[in-house]
Amino acid sequence: MVLQDIFFHVAGIAFLTSAKTKSIFRGYSSPKPFGMSDIEKCIRYDINVVENWLFHLRKYTNEADFLVGKDVLELGPGSDLGVGLYLLAQGCSQYNACDVNDLMASTPDDFYEQFLAKIKSTNSQAKIDFLRTQLQEVKVGNLSKFNYVLRDDFNIVAAFGKATIDLVFSQAAFEHFDDINTTFSQLSTVCRSGAVLISQVDLQTHSRWIRRQDPNNIYRYPSWFYNMFWFRGSPNRIRPYQYQEILERHGWTDVSIVAVETTKDYNQAYSGMNNAFADNKNQMEYLSIMLCARKV
Ligand SMILES: C[S@@+](CC[C@H](N)C(=O)[O-])C[C@H]1O[C@@H](n2cnc3c(N)ncnc32)[C@H](O)[C@@H]1O
Repeated sequence: MVLQDIFFHVAGIAFLTSAKTKSIFRGYSSPKPFGMSDIEKCIRYDINVVENWLFHLRKYTNEADFLVGKDVLELGPGSDLGVGLYLLAQGCSQYNACDVNDLMASTPDDFYEQFLAKIKSTNSQAKIDFLRTQLQEVKVGNLSKFNYVLRDDFNIVAAFGKATIDLVFSQAAFEHFDDINTTFSQLSTVCRSGAVLISQVDLQTHSRWIRRQDPNNIYRYPSWFYNMFWFRGSPNRIRPYQYQEILERHGWTDVSIVAVETTKDYNQAYSGMNNAFADNKNQMEYLSIMLCARKV
């Protein structure tokens, strides 16, 4: 081990300890890397997320308007329904979402009003009053074009039923799921034949300082040690080839894994990694990926 690896190995343990301690005292609290108080930034973030998904969706399906008229499911939407609002404005038929953490409760109404104003300024076709009414209905628990489901067991079959979804989106959430196998198995039940999955997965360590210095820090440790710091939502260390295997096992085809962010230095990406991540099938140079697949 080179000196730098020893340093990052030791420093990483401090960050794992800190993340575990925070989760005990604060629970899962900050889905975005900034707070909801910066409304403009949050709106920009949500729009970028959707535009990025739609870019990959167009490339994957070779269709300009695949979204239009589709029943959409977002897994792990985080702090607000901005993504759903924007997807509905772009023509999807129904926005469904499932999460285990109630992160939306404190989203200010002003966020949605400013988001609607933004949509109005860029899309003259958008039905702003209709979208506002749909938001008001979901907030009081009525049937709406927004169907936001909170379930501690994350049982998406119980939440949405069989063969109800055409398009699955997710952003920086799969890496937090407790049991990827079960989620993909349930996703196969929930999705109609021909459904498309577009999901960005953040493969890096999530602790802020060390993420910039040593993005692959969490892969330095053996499972038995890493698991001592487990808490609900801690990164599950699933690598791209594993996503591919799991998807294919559960009836998904044409799996495409596109690198969204990579390390600059290939050799450094493997330096000091635990044996389980030392083989190049792990693609340790991939820091963030877009998973695309089609349900058979
Ligand atoms: C980093 S946030 C991303 C949120 C949102 N997609 C965004 O980009 O801002 C991760 C999301 O995964 C959800 N999540 C965390 N742990 C989870 C778990 N064990 N099962 C299901 N969802 C989980 C969180 O509640 C949150 O919505």
